[in-house]
Amino acid sequence: MPESADRGVFIVSNASSAQLHTIDLIRKKRDGGALDAREIAFLVEGAAGGSIPPEQLAAWLMAAWLRGLALQEIQALTLAMRDSGEKRSPRRLGKVAVDKHSTGGVGDKTSFLVAPIAAACGLVVPMISGRALGHTGGTLDKLESIPGFRTALSLDEFESVLFQCGAAIVSQTPKLVPADRVLYALRDRTGTVESPGLICASILSKKLAAGLDALVLDVKTGSGAFLRKRKDAEYLAALMVATAEAAGTRTVALMTDMGQPLGRMAGNWIELMESVELLRGDWPKQSEDLRELSLRLAGWMIHLGGKADSPEEGLAMAENALKDGSAWRVFLQMIEAQGGDSRVFDDPAAFHKPGATRVLEAWQSGTIAEMETTQIGWAVQRLGAGREKAGEPVDPHAGIEFHARRGARVERGRPIATLYATRAEMLAEPIALLRNGITITDAPPSPVQLVDTIFTRQNAEAYLRNAGKVER
Ligand code: URA
Repeated sequence: MPESADRGVFIVSNASSAQLHTIDLIRKKRDGGALDAREIAFLVEGAAGGSIPPEQLAAWLMAAWLRGLALQEIQALTLAMRDSGEKRSPRRLGKVAVDKHSTGGVGDKTSFLVAPIAAACGLVVPMISGRALGHTGGTLDKLESIPGFRTALSLDEFESVLFQCGAAIVSQTPKLVPADRVLYALRDRTGTVESPGLICASILSKKLAAGLDALVLDVKTGSGAFLRKRKDAEYLAALMVATAEAAGTRTVALMTDMGQPLGRMAGNWIELMESVELLRGDWPKQSEDLRELSLRLAGWMIHLGGKADSPEEGLAMAENALKDGSAWRVFLQMIEAQGGDSRVFDDPAAFHKPGATRVLEAWQSGTIAEMETTQIGWAVQRLGAGREKAGEPVDPHAGIEFHARRGARVERGRPIATLYATRAEMLAEPIALLRNGITITDAPPSPVQLVDTIFTRQNAEAYLRNAGKVER
C-alpha cells in the first residue's frame, strides 16, 4: 500500500523479498516514511560490516534526526544493533545479572557505589561503560585515574572478574555491538546525537547484548542533561523501558535531577575519592544527594534482581551493604582484579596532585539559586578532565570541588569552589564559566526533587500510547 509522506512524495513499501538499496531507504526516511524491520536490519548490517559508506549512513541519520523515528523503527533498530555482534546470555554467570545506566551528567559517580552494593547483595553486575562525552564525565576515564586499572578487558577476562567479584566495569569490546561504534562516531560528527530514538537504540543495544536480567535507568533532567526539555527526557525514559521490557529485560527508569552537579566533586580522581568516602561509611553533608540517589538506584537493582520484595526493602539492603563494609570490600576486589593498585585508597587525598589550584570566592552575598550545569560541565572539561577531540588523554587530577551548592547561603569573599587544573593558564576560562553559570540572588531557589517520576513497564507503555507513535 502506498504511504503518503509530509512532502507529498509517495513511497511504495518493499515487498519482503525485493532487493534493498540504501538510497531508497534514505529517501524514504527523508520524505517522512517509516522503515520496516527488514530495512532497518539492512542498514545496521551495512554499518557494522562496512558495506554502506559513511556518507549514506550519515544522510540516513540526519533524516532520522529531522523526521523522527516511529516506535516500531526504534525497537527494530535496537534489536538489529544488539544482534550486530557477539552477545552474552545472563545465565552464563549463574547469578541474576543487573546493571544501571545513566544518560550522562556532571559529577555522576553512582556506578562506583551501585555496582559493588548490588554485588554485595548477591547479584552480578556486568557494567559496560563509556568515556567523557561533551560536557559530561565518563566512568572509564575516572577509573583509569587508578594506577594500573584496565578497562579494556576481553570478554573472557570480563567474565573471570565477574565470577571473582560479582562486579566489573569495562569498555565496550570491538565485538560487542559493532554497529553502534560506527553509528555513534558518525552521530558525534554530524550533530545527530540528541535524538531520543537514536539514543535509546545506542544505549539499549549494548545493555541487551551484554546479557542482563534487569536494568535500572537513570534519566537525567535539568540544566546538565543531554535532553534538556522535560518532554524529550520523559519520552526517552518511557521509550527505553518499553523497548527493553519488550526484549525480555525487566527495566525501570528513574527521572533524576541534573540541575546541579551530583555530589560535591566533578572530575576524575576526585569523584573516585568522594565515592570511596561513602563506601567507607563517611557521609559528608555535601554528598547527601549522591548517597541518596545511589541507594535508590541500588534499591531498584536489588528489587528487580529478585533479592528484595520492594524497592524500599532493596534500599534498606543497599544501606546495610554500605554500613557493614561489604560493598567497600567488593569495590576493592574489583579494582585489584582489573589490575588497579588499591593502595592509592590508603590516603586518597595524598594521591591527588593537580598542576594548579585556585579557590573561587563568592562575588556577592546571597543564596545560590541556580547552577547552569552544562556550563559547569564544560568548565570541568576545560580544566583538563575531559577531551576536546576523541582519543586525547585526560588529566586524572583536574576537576572542581564545590563548597556550596544550590540553595546554600554564601557570603561575599567566602570560598564556593576549588578548581584543579592541569596548568595555571587553563584556569581563566573555567572560572568565567562558573561565574556565568552560578546565579547568586536574594531569593531562595524553588525546591527540586532528586527523583521525581519512575517509569515501569505499565506507565511507560501508557505514556507511549498517549504520546503517539512518532518521535517528534
Ligand atoms: N550514551 C550512549 O551510549 N549512546 C548515546 O546515544 C548517548 C549516550
